[in-house]
Amino acid sequence: MSLNFPNEALSNMNSHPSTPDMLVRMLDSMTVEEKIGQMSQFFGYDEQISEHLAHSIRQGRVGSVLNEVRLDTVNELQRLAVEESRLGIPLLIGRDVIHGFNTIFPIPLGQAASWCPETVKKCAHISALEAATTGINWTFAPMIDISRDPRWGRIAESLGEDPHLCSVLGVAMLEGFQGEQLDKTGSIAACAKHFAGYGAGESGRDYSTTNIPENELRNVYLPPFKAAADAGVATFMSAFSDLNGVPASGNKWLMTDILRKEWNYKGFVVSDWESIQQLTTHGFSKDNKDAAYEATDAGIDMEMVSSTYLDHLPALLAEGRIDIQQINTAVKKILQLKWQLGLFDNPYTDASLLPIPMNSQHLQIAKDAAIQSCVLLKNDNDILPLSADSLNSVAIIGPLADDPYEQLGTWIFDGDSQHSQTCLTAIEQELSGKASTHYVKAIETSRSYDQTDFKQAIESAAAADVALLILGEESILSGEAHCRAEIGLPGCQEQLIDAIAKTGTPIVLVIMAGRPLTIETVLPKVAAVLFAWHPGTMGGPAISDLLFGKASPSGKLPVTFPRKVGQVPIYYAQKHSGKPATEAAFVHMNDIPVHSPQTSLGMAATHLDTHFSPLFPFGFGLSYMQFRYQNLQLSHKVLHLGETLTVRVLLTNTGDTYGEEIAQLYIRDLVGSVTRPVKELKDFKRVKLAAGASEWVTFELSTDKLAFYDRNMQLVTEAGQFQIWLGGCSQTGPQDEFEIVDA
Ligand code: GLC
Repeated sequence: MSLNFPNEALSNMNSHPSTPDMLVRMLDSMTVEEKIGQMSQFFGYDEQISEHLAHSIRQGRVGSVLNEVRLDTVNELQRLAVEESRLGIPLLIGRDVIHGFNTIFPIPLGQAASWCPETVKKCAHISALEAATTGINWTFAPMIDISRDPRWGRIAESLGEDPHLCSVLGVAMLEGFQGEQLDKTGSIAACAKHFAGYGAGESGRDYSTTNIPENELRNVYLPPFKAAADAGVATFMSAFSDLNGVPASGNKWLMTDILRKEWNYKGFVVSDWESIQQLTTHGFSKDNKDAAYEATDAGIDMEMVSSTYLDHLPALLAEGRIDIQQINTAVKKILQLKWQLGLFDNPYTDASLLPIPMNSQHLQIAKDAAIQSCVLLKNDNDILPLSADSLNSVAIIGPLADDPYEQLGTWIFDGDSQHSQTCLTAIEQELSGKASTHYVKAIETSRSYDQTDFKQAIESAAAADVALLILGEESILSGEAHCRAEIGLPGCQEQLIDAIAKTGTPIVLVIMAGRPLTIETVLPKVAAVLFAWHPGTMGGPAISDLLFGKASPSGKLPVTFPRKVGQVPIYYAQKHSGKPATEAAFVHMNDIPVHSPQTSLGMAATHLDTHFSPLFPFGFGLSYMQFRYQNLQLSHKVLHLGETLTVRVLLTNTGDTYGEEIAQLYIRDLVGSVTRPVKELKDFKRVKLAAGASEWVTFELSTDKLAFYDRNMQLVTEAGQFQIWLGGCSQTGPQDEFEIVDA
């Protein structure tokens, strides 16, 4: 017989939504096993609810289930918990809703290229609405790992290389998921992951070791998580990775000293998939019992999938190695979130209260997001936008031109590729009645080396006014555990470009990929490059609108594109070093005289075989019109600590059509008690300008925005000289200087 938690207490709890002591009373009524049950997350996705899962729920051994996405199954899971367990505590239902649910938006790295918090928030909000129709109330997103290594497959899931951009967009994403109130229909709890430093894995291999000095952690990798914590993200997730010898999922310095004591974070931390049990694999814990001790003591409140807590916490408590207060603290946070989500009030989902997934509004927002995410990297002689009226014949070539699944990208468990609109369908629709189109897939998959169909592609291109090549990476070549040591176009795609280039027909290259690609050798052979990431459900119409001028590209790179993979890690906010790379110092190996003595080279931080600059820098992106930045003005040339600098520039759209530009504000702190980056993004703004229009773009820069962690790990703004830029990319824009003096 199941005794539900005394109703009057539950009703009292609900009548006092902010009364934590009601949770304490519930806590007091729980057995140790029931408490540990709340700290345990099981996985689902069985056709039927397994007897093991149902029995565990009835026993109060389950606090959360992940990967169940059928509404009837989820409601039955909740019913089992609420009506057939002793206390009737509802479940958290988790899922990776990363960049969409049924409607798929651009991959997060693509959304980051929009530099548009409003867009990112809208995409997350719709993702939450659609996920909530299946009873999901918790997503494992945003992923806000700073990612500076394009070999890493999960760069696709990140918001790029920069702490400020990642912080702003990460907060927008979590706000989109969580809405104004967690208990509002369609709001789901978010999860800041993977705490912390996961993106710095050696050689870009997933799950590999990270060694990040504390100063670098605090100045680069932690800021997006601090921003998420301050913005009220409901949960954190610990990383798989070993951080300086202490795996994150057993790292008390991260989970308790930083997250709880320093940041006063009140939410709870869930481990990554079996990452607690993996503490034994790391060689950090000698067995699962030790792993359970380390993780609990570190401050991991809920265990994802592995069962070291269920199996060993009772003994650890009995032995006094873990204190009941540690358990109570974890359980209270978990109960608090269930309460905030309104689950005690109503654990069941009525999908009729939510919008129908994949509706026209959702698809329109997916298209708008894809348009804002695409980055125009090259546009020789303004070949783009193409004029449909002046074309007779267009060749559409490539394995990604008409692949509804691949354009969705990684982490799309519930994406519905049947609703995808591909480039081919969109371009054929656009040119219908205007120009003839000839489609040749040419290569079976992006990884294929079979050139059998090249001949057909060559013929199609030779007969066309322009060849639209839609190439890149299949979605499986990025994402978790899908890292690449070489990051060029896979398979024989470059050979295809060579073959088409020989026809003399101009090539417009559209690339879909989950990471920056090394396309230096491709560039001379094509007239234009539009980088579309994996653009999602509406990628085709978005790309077609951009190619034919119904929209103008406005995306800017959220991550640096290297010339060669050997340059990695390469990012704009690098340190100056004592012998910086300069044009004067750079000597290419082909220019070195034979028998040169050892000391005759440039003696600088450069390679012999590749120029030290990136192929495309952070913040780069072309439009169909030129934007002019002039008259940079500073309110002060000298500031006292605590004052605010107002900086503005006159931005003009010199083109003949409306356009949007992302103005970017960078600074350089010339001298610091620890070395400072040569540039740091401090603010940005999307500016909309009619043809020929000008607008003053103004930013307010308080001196506390210039703060960094010094060698004593104190957050300080130091007096000294600063440089400042305001432009459309990290490498351009008018520059000025100012000085901060002590008060
Ligand atoms: C995976 C990922 C994590 C994800 C979790 C649940 O291994 O690392 O990001 O949220 O497991 O799928």
